[in-house]
Amino acid sequence: MLNFKSNVILAPLAGFTDCAFRRLCSDLGAGLTVTEMVSAKGLHYNNENTETLLKTAGESPCSVQLFGNDPDIMAEATTNEKLQKFDVIDINMGCPVPKIVKNGEGSALLNDIKLAEKIISKCVSVSKKPISVKFRIGFNQNQDICVDFARMCENAGASFITIHGRTKEDYYSGNARFDSIFKSAEQVKIPVFANGDIKTIDDYNYIMNNSNVYGVAVGRGALGNPSIFSQILGAPIIPKDKLILKHYEYLKENFNEHYIFTNFRKHLVYYIDGTKNARSTRNAIFTAQTIEQAIDFALNALK
Ligand SMILES: Cc1cc2nc3c(=O)[nH]c(=O)nc-3n(C[C@H](O)[C@H](O)[C@H](O)COP(=O)(O)O)c2cc1C
Repeated sequence: MLNFKSNVILAPLAGFTDCAFRRLCSDLGAGLTVTEMVSAKGLHYNNENTETLLKTAGESPCSVQLFGNDPDIMAEATTNEKLQKFDVIDINMGCPVPKIVKNGEGSALLNDIKLAEKIISKCVSVSKKPISVKFRIGFNQNQDICVDFARMCENAGASFITIHGRTKEDYYSGNARFDSIFKSAEQVKIPVFANGDIKTIDDYNYIMNNSNVYGVAVGRGALGNPSIFSQILGAPIIPKDKLILKHYEYLKENFNEHYIFTNFRKHLVYYIDGTKNARSTRNAIFTAQTIEQAIDFALNALK
């Protein structure tokens, strides 16, 4: 069984949770970090852009997330040499993005529990690594298949599950609903991580005091605030200017200038969220000519 560093883990966020951000969150106490989702077909065809997604920067433990709907291609991906440096292989069964769902991948699998089971059990049977699953509570707004799906994952051999308390139809609107996550945690023995809108230590305490989930997965709550992990875990708060500089250092160690310029400005805007002149600083960051200039705008806003 995997040794989580803590029970507060980083949820995958495509476009954000690259190895630099994961390393920062891991330093700050995240119990596990997860890559952005990687296409199993992309691995099969050796697509170039999977290389960037599979970079690691010393974050530990770290999981790689796969999406796909072909049990053979998914199973093959779990044995791919490039994935063997990860501690866990996570399967995405919750992505609501239309082009993914249209292909029968991500949250589309919530509508085909038999196929979902086949994918998980096939991956479990060939993988040397623990297999985990991340899913939503249902596909349609009024549907709640959470408990059945959680039981299926356990029976198929998943080592743990992360449940986002929304349906596919909810997309990201409304509040995450935790009751069915809590019920699921009572029905399975494997660790369950609750996910959705967890942004403060109070959110964490509410979940831990009212259920027997193992822990929580924090996604958007970590953007601009990676020290949410240390805050929840009771460690001293680190000033944001220090976090920005550390984040930049990890980016420089791992990515080229073009990548950093494109990617880091999105993060900087989160870091300055809530400051007095956030709107004008955001514009300044996005119109900056160099990343150093954008960083200066962010650091000044935090003064
Ligand atoms: C920009 C963005 C990208 C995401 N990318 C992924 C992904 O690659 N894989 C995945 O399982 N979930 C993905 N999610 C969903 C999050 O992991 C998480 O389940 C959701 O945002 C709810 O949790 P939060 O309120 O803590 O963010 C993404 C969400 C957002 C907003």
